[in-house]
Amino acid sequence: MRWYDVFAHTYDAQLEALYRPYRPAAFDALRLAPGQTVLDLACGTGQNFDGLAERLGPAGRVVGLDASEGMLKKARARADRLGLEAALVHADATAAAYPPVDAVLATLAFTALPDPDAAFARALDALRPGGRFVLLDVHAERRRFQTWLVEKIARADLNRRPWTLLEAALDDVSRTDLNAPAKTFGGTLYVAAGTKRAL
Ligand SMILES: C[S@@+](CC[C@H](N)C(=O)[O-])C[C@H]1O[C@@H](n2cnc3c(N)ncnc32)[C@H](O)[C@@H]1O
Repeated sequence: MRWYDVFAHTYDAQLEALYRPYRPAAFDALRLAPGQTVLDLACGTGQNFDGLAERLGPAGRVVGLDASEGMLKKARARADRLGLEAALVHADATAAAYPPVDAVLATLAFTALPDPDAAFARALDALRPGGRFVLLDVHAERRRFQTWLVEKIARADLNRRPWTLLEAALDDVSRTDLNAPAKTFGGTLYVAAGTKRAL
């Protein structure tokens, strides 16, 4: 994960303020209760941690997985700053084994993961029935210069439609356009969410 180890040095300075206003829509879609455990899939530097800590309270827990040690180092520092209980796992999302979790959050993840189907299947296995699986991501329905730029910087593919994974496997699936400027984000910024079927 060499590129993201390098990107980790400037990731927060470049992107945190840009995405921060849109993250609460994803936190809300998780429908969390205090004390629950959330899997933050491809957690990066932990930009979701503040919002998750707020909703989970002192008894809550985050499992953060990422393939980049550089990103995880930043995530560790952030969790410690927040006093958030976080198990941070250095692994490839396509081969990871998770503990059982109450909810899964994947922000700007499924457009960057090399094998979204495998990563989704792994995370879904860990999610308890009735738990929420939430994506925040960008889709380029029309390609523009910024699409290309975001893809280069994030090593991402904004043509992907990862919400279709949710539609195929979950109940109560929704997708909400966050009305962010496409010329800034390279496409439509959206939250997609669904509920794992009861056994
Ligand atoms: C665009 S960043 C998103 C980070 C964070 N979720 C956020 O919202 O800021 C994509 C993340 O995916 C991670 N990643 C890429 N390939 C991965 C893989 N195969 N397994 C786990 N993480 C991976 C990168 O290291 C990076 O932290």
